[in-house]
Amino acid sequence: MLIKPNAVKNGFAHEIFLMVHNHGFKILAQKKLQLSEREAQAFYRVHAGKPFFQGLVEFMTSGPIYAAVLEKENAVAEWRTLMGATDPAKAAEGTVRKKYAESVQHNAVHGSDSDENALNEIFFFFSAREIVNAGGDIYQLHDILKNEQ
Ligand code: CMP
Repeated sequence: MLIKPNAVKNGFAHEIFLMVHNHGFKILAQKKLQLSEREAQAFYRVHAGKPFFQGLVEFMTSGPIYAAVLEKENAVAEWRTLMGATDPAKAAEGTVRKKYAESVQHNAVHGSDSDENALNEIFFFFSAREIVNAGGDIYQLHDILKNEQ
């Protein structure tokens, strides 16, 4: 998952991590960083060519973000539920985006849309040795990490 520049700038990162913790996710890794233009383009490459792509890249490089690896049974679906809809106007009460998103683009957080993409996104930001206690089998992270060592 990512906490996007607007939420970090507005000082919401810790409250968002608290929501994550309170909903039973384990945070296996976490870092604060600022994406370069090339990195943002690469991370969002599936959206290249879409009308909002350039704006998305500009926004995602506009300030520091947090990247984190979350563990829970059905983590991808569970985190998508807790995030709420991409458009905060459609996000359910009690979701992160309902509370902290400003617009579709400035929507506070990002989540992977499948286990396969979660793995790609995890290894976009983290090396195997930065992910601690990866004992869960949701992403078969344990096996993957063992194979990498
Ligand atoms: P995210 O979950 O990070 O995945 C892709 C992002 O593109 C999405 O959240 C939004 O921030 C952004 N996005 C998707 N659709 C639009 C849109 N129609 N206009 C602007 N930004 C969009």
